[in-house]
Amino acid sequence: MSAASTLKSTAHRVFSGISPTYDMILRFFTLFQDDYWKDDLLQRASLRAGDLVLDIGCGTGVLEERIGNLPVQIVGVDLTKEMLLLAAQKKLECVDALLLGDAERLPFVSERFDVVLSCYVIKYCKTEDFVAQIARMLKPGGMVVIYDFARPSGVLAPLHGFYIYGILRLLGKFAKGYDPSISFTFSKLPNVIARSTWEDEIEGCLVRAGFVGVRHKTLSGGGAKMFWACKNKF
Ligand SMILES: C[S@@+](CC[C@H](N)C(=O)[O-])C[C@H]1O[C@@H](n2cnc3c(N)ncnc32)[C@H](O)[C@@H]1O
Repeated sequence: MSAASTLKSTAHRVFSGISPTYDMILRFFTLFQDDYWKDDLLQRASLRAGDLVLDIGCGTGVLEERIGNLPVQIVGVDLTKEMLLLAAQKKLECVDALLLGDAERLPFVSERFDVVLSCYVIKYCKTEDFVAQIARMLKPGGMVVIYDFARPSGVLAPLHGFYIYGILRLLGKFAKGYDPSISFTFSKLPNVIARSTWEDEIEGCLVRAGFVGVRHKTLSGGGAKMFWACKNKF
């Protein structure tokens, strides 16, 4: 099995297993930082009334809940049916469609969306393919904002490293007898984060794919990174 298909099957196994408890686990896993990160992402996306927005790896629709009743239309796509079913049950006003699909082979015609957003998905993908799909999806002048966990860096790196590679792995071991899905998630995610090179590759990929104004920021002192850029108008 190739590295890419191993990552995809890990993602599918993790998220089909934890889908009922995902929203709670997300808050816990990010030490309650995710709401702030999503608000930051939405601020950078500067959504305008009527925008058609693609959320890649929308999961249970946590981002859509934060968008609330802004007058935009969101199309969510995700690899895992169980996550999409939970998003659908929320019956969120801004959601136009929820579709099963792979971030590396998106099932849409080119240049359809004004904005592309994505949270916690790029580490499961080949960075070049993920960015190429975003470039294909966006209209000229369209905006992308994404974030994901990053390998611990900066002054808080020892603390983040201890949390991700120490505490979470330990929780994975403890959870084994009580919830195999949570145990699998907490034991696999630290490895996925440790092996991912998305944060080193994405800027070059965005530039090669025709994006301008590529910027990034570190979230909560190094636990995650956000990148944003605009697709060239010409
Ligand atoms: C950590 S969850 C994030 C969900 C949502 N974006 C959020 O912020 O809560 C990661 C999601 O990415 C999806 N995913 C992973 N790899 C994917 C791929 N190649 N294509 C589409 N979705 C993928 C998983 O099924 C899962 O729902």
